[in-house]
Amino acid sequence: MKNNFIPLSRPCLGGNEWLYVKECLDTGWVSSAGPFIDRFEKAVAFNVGAEDAVAVSSGTAALHTALLVMGVKAGDEVIAPALTFVSPINAICYVNASPVFMDVSPDSWNLDVNKLASFLAENCEVRGEECFNKKSQKRIRAIVAVHLLGNCCDMDPILDMAKRYHLKVIEDAAEAMGVLYKGKSVGTLGDIGCFSFNGNKVITCGGGGMIVAKNKKDLDYARYLTTQAKDDPLEYIHNEIGYNYRLTSLQAAVGLAQLEQLDQFVAKKRQIASFYQEAFKDLEELTLMSAPSYCESTWWLYTVLLGAKRSLQERKDLLRTLKENGIDARPFWHPIYTLAPYKNFESYKMEKTMSLYERGVCLPSSVDVTPDELQKVVAVFKKSLASL
Ligand SMILES: Cc1ncc(COP(=O)(O)O)c(C=O)c1O
Repeated sequence: MKNNFIPLSRPCLGGNEWLYVKECLDTGWVSSAGPFIDRFEKAVAFNVGAEDAVAVSSGTAALHTALLVMGVKAGDEVIAPALTFVSPINAICYVNASPVFMDVSPDSWNLDVNKLASFLAENCEVRGEECFNKKSQKRIRAIVAVHLLGNCCDMDPILDMAKRYHLKVIEDAAEAMGVLYKGKSVGTLGDIGCFSFNGNKVITCGGGGMIVAKNKKDLDYARYLTTQAKDDPLEYIHNEIGYNYRLTSLQAAVGLAQLEQLDQFVAKKRQIASFYQEAFKDLEELTLMSAPSYCESTWWLYTVLLGAKRSLQERKDLLRTLKENGIDARPFWHPIYTLAPYKNFESYKMEKTMSLYERGVCLPSSVDVTPDELQKVVAVFKKSLASL
């Protein structure tokens, strides 16, 4: 239902969602088995160009599972960006590994591949087929490449470095369903990829996630771990600790209906981004979101940076004024390496993350936002900026 509030990214449920959920209710397939789960897995796999996929209860569950499948063990280190939603960092902590925080690029706002290269060259060494952090003496097992806001990381250099340093690449494509890197779907470029279908994502199941993997063996293992590691389901034999991480049929039914609309949702996100680009092009102080040349962006969440001279307080004041006017805007995520549970982990040459956090403003980008609502966002934003 519409009211005067303009949300950041709300779900748009105008397709076959009712029909498919009714089918679940009519047939009794409501839990973690049934035709809609298979159909949703196959449809997502087909869409991203993967052989198969495993549907799970959230993007976070997908990431946790991906780390286990990639063999990340307690005491290992995993390289991850400092600017991201906290989920991939928490997943690293769930397996008792430590994140090593990497800065993000000032242009793409994603993992800085130059910093990654210098970190690996200066601070790491390969012993046999494993990579070690010379300072902590811990094994570095993987890189989590988080694709932010509907853009993506520069994957070729990441994959190249991963190969040289014997690291696994886990793609966090939670925000990046539909994004292409050099013509290929993100999530399918590394060893394992994770998607989220949380309520604010390009498509939603209410809550949910999906895992795709380069090797069938890894995907089979993900399926096994996420269904309580059942070795003999009849006799309840479990040889490993498993998880109840499967998606339900009801969620898969919603997800399938959403996936049918993905192309039109992405087209709408792109229109919203073009509108903002045009509307803000004369505001010299702003740095507008841009898609790197290697990335076909979905522009999941349109974001701008305030001028370099702006203070954190000014950005906060701007967000407050937007909120007072019924506009749901938000900052970038707080740099994770400064937050209490994570501040003892290593962070490497942080230079950009903090300033992006201080100056970034994400603007309403819901698929069903109206032209009048977009006009209002721009008008209030410009007025508030001028009066800071
Ligand atoms: C970058 C990123 N990774 C992971 C997640 C976690 O997904 P979920 O909320 O489905 O657990 C999200 C969003 O929620 C995200 O934005």
